[in-house]
Amino acid sequence: MSLNQKPDFGPLHGVRVVVSAMEIAGPFPAHMMAEWGADVIWIENTSYPDTIRVQRNYCELARRNFKTITLNMFAEEGREAFLRLMKDTDILIESSKGPSWPRHGITDELLWGANPALVIAHLSGYGHWGDPNYINLPSYDLIAQAFSGYLVQNGTVEQPVPAFPYAGDYFAGFTVLSSALAALYRAKQTGQGESIDVSMYEALLRVGQYYMMDYFNEGKVYPRSNMGKDPLCVGCGVYKCKDGYMTMELVGARQVAGMMKELGKDALIGTDACPEGCQLLLLSMPHGTETEADIDKYFADMTLADAEAVMSRLKIAGGRMMTVQDLENHPHYVAREDIVTWEGSNGRTVKGPNIVPRFKNRPGQIWRGMPDRGEHTKSVLEGLGYNDQQIAELEEKGIVLLKK
Ligand code: COA
Repeated sequence: MSLNQKPDFGPLHGVRVVVSAMEIAGPFPAHMMAEWGADVIWIENTSYPDTIRVQRNYCELARRNFKTITLNMFAEEGREAFLRLMKDTDILIESSKGPSWPRHGITDELLWGANPALVIAHLSGYGHWGDPNYINLPSYDLIAQAFSGYLVQNGTVEQPVPAFPYAGDYFAGFTVLSSALAALYRAKQTGQGESIDVSMYEALLRVGQYYMMDYFNEGKVYPRSNMGKDPLCVGCGVYKCKDGYMTMELVGARQVAGMMKELGKDALIGTDACPEGCQLLLLSMPHGTETEADIDKYFADMTLADAEAVMSRLKIAGGRMMTVQDLENHPHYVAREDIVTWEGSNGRTVKGPNIVPRFKNRPGQIWRGMPDRGEHTKSVLEGLGYNDQQIAELEEKGIVLLKK
């Protein structure tokens, strides 16, 4: 063990992250950093536990490698402990209903008073400024998908269907992850911190794709994808084979020509239906919908193994839809040790995904299971200079909660 009683591993060893957030979107970037070697302290609300704890199995993945402290940083004495913690913290991630921290008296300027190099990532549904009717509203994945123009793109023509599982949370989480690390790079060079305003809906707006750009620039509005098919392109979707579902993305000049020949449509190559060098067949091109129907028929007569063999022969990106049962023992998953077991909370053995991605020189590591509520409150406070009596007083006042 070395710095912060954490084993020395990963590219982020030596970086301290504090996260005050519930569920997925806010904790997720902190969790990725914890897997890449950061020392991560998760602050839980003194009034109630993080709702993630209800998801008995998922929380073991989502909170492994974390330490936790149960602290009310909005109470005066709690704020003092929190500011002491900030002195040695590199990144603070907080998720709340808009500008709730400054409303509770914790402004960016107060935090920079404790640590001018601190990177502060504020995550909220709608951002910290804008229309006053929105900025204080709560938000979860579905609400962000709905507000951002993401939901309107997914599902069938008749029924919008959110992109599960929780795409809005993870896109927002990745936005916090990347922006906080970008700001940390700068802070390490200059000593100047940063405050980042991440709104869940804008993270999804940014990945709005051609739905947005074709509308803004040409006024085009597409129907929602129907039955797992791309609404714009031929050969991009989910196809039913005899024994399951196959996927294909027919993109690239070699791939398009290869598939047209495979379908016996050589005569169309070099015409308006498939101009020479065509990289993407559109449904709106001559014979577009007819070719799509031909692809449906082509796959319907095949087994998944045959379909995958064709994709491999033509070097087209495609593959069968795996179930979770399929992937567990798939030779590629086994070869890459994608599913592992580790010691979770209370000594329980848990099974789930390995660290992603794989760093060659400084690999990530699973070094501890999900902590119990309040598990490290005492040790973190001791590290901040509090003695037993002071800790007992804070507990008595309900400002901290210790593990029972
Ligand atoms: N100790 C004491 N009080 C705390 C605390 C702590 N450690 N952390 C938060 N609180 C307070 C909050 O300030 C809040 O008080 P307020 O309503 O007066 O501001 C109260 O406890 C409730 O906390 P909050 O986390 O806001 O819970 P909520 O159930 O009201 O809302 C969310 C939860 C997730 C909807 C909301 O935090 C939110 O919109 N977050 C941003 C988007 C997001 O991350 N969504 C979840 C994606 S998975």
